[in-house]
Amino acid sequence: MPAEEMNLWYRDAIFYEVHVKSFYDSNNDGTGDFEGLRQKLDYLKTLGVDCIWLLPFYKSPLKDDGYDISDFYSIQPEYGTMEDFQRFLDDAHSIGIRVIADLVLNHVSDQIEWFKEARRDRNSPKRSWFVWSDTDQKYSQARVIFIDSEISNWTWEPVTRQYYWHRFYSSQPDLNYDNPEVREEMKNVMRFWLKKGLDGFRCDAVPYLFEREGTDCENLPETHAYFKDLRKMLDLEFPGTILLAEANQWPTQAKEYFGNEDEFHMCFNFPLMPRIFIALARQSALPIVEIINQTLPIPATCDWGIFLRNHDELTLEMVTDEERDIMYSEYAKIPKMRLNLGIRRRLAPLVDNDRATLELLYALLLSIPGSPILYYGDELGMGDNIYLGDRNGVRTPMQWSYDRNAGFSRADTEQLYSPVITNPNFHYESFNVESESRISSSLLNWVKKMLRTRKKYNTIFGRGNIEFVTHENKKALCYVRKYEGGQILCVFNMSKKHTYVELDLKQYKGYRPVEVITETRFPFIGDLPYFFTLPPHGFFWLRLVAPNEEDGIQDD
Ligand code: GLC
Ligand code: CA
Repeated sequence: MPAEEMNLWYRDAIFYEVHVKSFYDSNNDGTGDFEGLRQKLDYLKTLGVDCIWLLPFYKSPLKDDGYDISDFYSIQPEYGTMEDFQRFLDDAHSIGIRVIADLVLNHVSDQIEWFKEARRDRNSPKRSWFVWSDTDQKYSQARVIFIDSEISNWTWEPVTRQYYWHRFYSSQPDLNYDNPEVREEMKNVMRFWLKKGLDGFRCDAVPYLFEREGTDCENLPETHAYFKDLRKMLDLEFPGTILLAEANQWPTQAKEYFGNEDEFHMCFNFPLMPRIFIALARQSALPIVEIINQTLPIPATCDWGIFLRNHDELTLEMVTDEERDIMYSEYAKIPKMRLNLGIRRRLAPLVDNDRATLELLYALLLSIPGSPILYYGDELGMGDNIYLGDRNGVRTPMQWSYDRNAGFSRADTEQLYSPVITNPNFHYESFNVESESRISSSLLNWVKKMLRTRKKYNTIFGRGNIEFVTHENKKALCYVRKYEGGQILCVFNMSKKHTYVELDLKQYKGYRPVEVITETRFPFIGDLPYFFTLPPHGFFWLRLVAPNEEDGIQDD
C-alpha cells in the first residue's frame, strides 16, 4: 500500500477511549496502570479496536483528573514508569493497535514549575508564559465553561497582585500563546511523545488558545494558524500520525478545524452527538438529517470522530434552549444527573438500559459518516454513579468479572481510586467481561458482532458518501452509504412504537437487499415502493446487491 494511503488509517479505524487508571490494576494498589492496560490488550484486539485514545497520564495533582498537567515530560507515578508506557505502546503496535494520547495545550496545572515561578515574581522569565491583567474585566465576552464551579475566567494572584486567565478551573492557568517560547515548548512536548512512537494526539480544548479583546476568544484565526503549524510539523517529522480536535462548537466553527486538509485530520462530531439523543426523545429522524447535512461535506482526507458518550458530561452547550430542555426532561430527571450545561451519565443508564435503544444507538454510531469512538465499559452496558462528584460517576473501574472489585484490582476495596458500580440494576456481578463473554446474547457479544460487520464493510462505512432516501414517515431514518459500487441501505425506527416506511428505491430496480448482520436475503427491488415494518427502535443494515453481482451467502 502506498504511504499516503497507509497514512489514512484513521478513516477506517475503530477508536476506544480509555483512562489508564480505570482499566486494570496490575500491582494491586487500587489504581489502574500501564502494565495493567498492556495485559488487557488482547481484550481490545478481540473486541475489534484499532486505535486506543488515552486520557491524560502525565504528572498531575489530579484536580481535573489529569487535564491539569504539572509535568508534561513524566508519567503520573501510580500509572507506572516510562518503561511501562513504552512496553505497553510497543505491545499495542505489535498486535496492530495504534495509540493516540490526550494533549492539553491550552492550560496547565498551577503546580507546574512554570507557573510556580511565574506567580512568585512579575520579573520572572516565566511570567509571560501566562496571561495576566490588573483588572478582571478584560475579555469579558468569553463565556465561563465550568459554570457550576467558577464565576469568572480571572483569578487573583495575591503575591504579585494581578489576575491570571483560565478557561477552566482556577487551578488550571491558561498558557499565553502570544509568547513564541510557549508555542515552541508545546511542540517539544509533542515531539517528545511522538518519538516514543505515539500515533497522534487528541487535542484538548482547542478553541481557546488565543485571546483577543472584543471577541469571545474562541476559534480565533491565530489559534487556527498555530494548529496549521503543528500539522506541518507532524507531516514533516512524523508522517502517519494524526491530530484529533476537541472543539465543542456549532457546525460551521467545528468544520473549520479541518482547514484545507492542513489542520486537523479528525474532529469530534460534537454537533451530531446530542442531536442523536434529541432525535430519540422527539421520536423523529429530522434532527439527525439536519445536522448531518450541516456537518457535511468535509475535505476528502478528513473525518469526523463519532461518539455517543465520553469521559465528560454529555455536553449541551451548543444546542438551543429548547433542545436543552428536551434533553434534561428526557435524560436527567434527577438534578444530580446534571453538571454544568450537561448530563453526567453513561450510555446504558441514559436509555434506562433498554436493549433495543442501545442497539439502535450503536447501529447509528457505526454507520453514520465518520470514525466511531467507543468509551470504555459502554460495550458492556456499564452503569454510572451520579453520587460521585464532578464527572467521576462515569469514570469508575472497568468491570472484568464478578470477583471482588469487579476483577479490576485485588486491593482492599477501600483502597480503590473509585468505588465500583453496585447499583442493582447495573451491578458489576452481571455487567462484566467474563459473564458477558459466556452468554451469546450479551451486549458485549452483540457489540463485537457489530464491529466485525462494520469492518467487513469498512470502505463503505469508513469512506463512502451518504444519501438520504426521502419518504413520508418522520419517525424513520433512511440513508444509503455508498462507495465504489458498493452500497448499504440503513433504516432506523427512531420511535418507541412499531412503524412502517415505504421507500422509493427505483434506482436500484433488480437489486437484492441482503441483511448484513445475519446475512439474510430480502426480496428483489421492483417497481413498487419497497416496504419495511420495524419494531420499536428497530433497524436494518442491508447491502444492495446488483443484479450481476454474487451475494456471497452460503445457503442453509
Ligand atoms: C476537556 C476535557 C475535560 C477537561 C477540560 C479541561 O473538555 O475533555 O475532561 O475537564 O477539557 O481540560
Ligand atoms: Ca496499580
